[in-house]
Amino acid sequence: MKDLIILGIESSCDETACAIVKNGNQIISNVVSTQIDVHEKYGGVVPEVASRIHVENISIVICEALEKSNMSMDDIDAIAYTKGPGLIGSLHVGVQAAKTIAWLYNKPLLPIHHLIGHIYANGFVDDINFPLLSLVVSGGHTELVYMKDNYSFEILGCTQDDAIGEAYDKVARVLGLGYPGGPKIDKLAKIGRHQYTLPTPKTDNPLNFSFSGLKSGVLQCVAREEKIGNTIDINNLAYDFQEVALATILAKTKIAIENKNPLQLVLAGGVAANSRLRKLIIQLGESYPNLKITIPPLWCCTDNAAMIGAAGYYAYINNRFGDLTDSATPSMDLENS
Ligand code: KG4
Ligand code: ZN
Repeated sequence: MKDLIILGIESSCDETACAIVKNGNQIISNVVSTQIDVHEKYGGVVPEVASRIHVENISIVICEALEKSNMSMDDIDAIAYTKGPGLIGSLHVGVQAAKTIAWLYNKPLLPIHHLIGHIYANGFVDDINFPLLSLVVSGGHTELVYMKDNYSFEILGCTQDDAIGEAYDKVARVLGLGYPGGPKIDKLAKIGRHQYTLPTPKTDNPLNFSFSGLKSGVLQCVAREEKIGNTIDINNLAYDFQEVALATILAKTKIAIENKNPLQLVLAGGVAANSRLRKLIIQLGESYPNLKITIPPLWCCTDNAAMIGAAGYYAYINNRFGDLTDSATPSMDLENS
């Protein structure tokens, strides 16, 4: 089969990105423009501000990705873009850009589910083997996804309330650490030790997740300690929050491995950058010698368009083409993508 060159576009949250990817796993160019420093000032992503910045940056990142690739639009076989899930205003910018280029240059369109991008990002560092189990942990999602083959997705469990990254960000805000909270808690927890007892999350189904009770537990702990005049040890509270949150993730991943017996386990999403989670997953792998474990490098844990270009390759070979009538889908369904 001839090489497939996909131009990927991502704008679902606070990164405006474009990349050119060959055959699903070779990056020709990869440009990401992050808005984190702007949203940091507000303590979280402000959707209206995010979409305005996407509008300012989208053409710039697309031109830069093409320039860096030394390719022209003639070399591009298809345009892949994040159709959802994400912030509606942010998604619209990438969707419109993708449709405009596709129309102008007469290229096929590949609408991509953002989490499929996170999962296929692992293909940049390792072969992907099926059946595959993905632990998807990001700012908007906490999911155990089973794939018996390429482009086939079964959600084994998901969060009943907050996503894990959202819990990190909210707890960080309570502790006065700012946005994004995940990397800050990760750092402080390294110097913390056990001091506070926090509630263990309870769920209706053993493979589902719940983090809102744990988040409230942190809030109540802060209020209780302040009421009796104690100063909170932020390092220890960060440590205890992280240990409880990650213990539940590990326990559920273990159940999924035992139920489904996958050949490979991959980590995906922004929280996959967490140093403690990465260690715990490697340790978990020691109990399953036949299970291949893939942990993506830090650069492809957070949002980027290379992962959308990678997913685009598999969408292309599985005939998941879209057209100019498609629009942004903020709560896009993974299983029917
Ligand atoms: O995948 P991502 O870039 O955006 C979404 O698709 O949601 O994930 C962003 C999330 C944020 O909640 C951020 O706090 C979290 O990933 N995150 C981390 C770490 N780095 C980023 N959480 C825990 N530890 C980290 N080192
Ligand atoms: Zn993401």
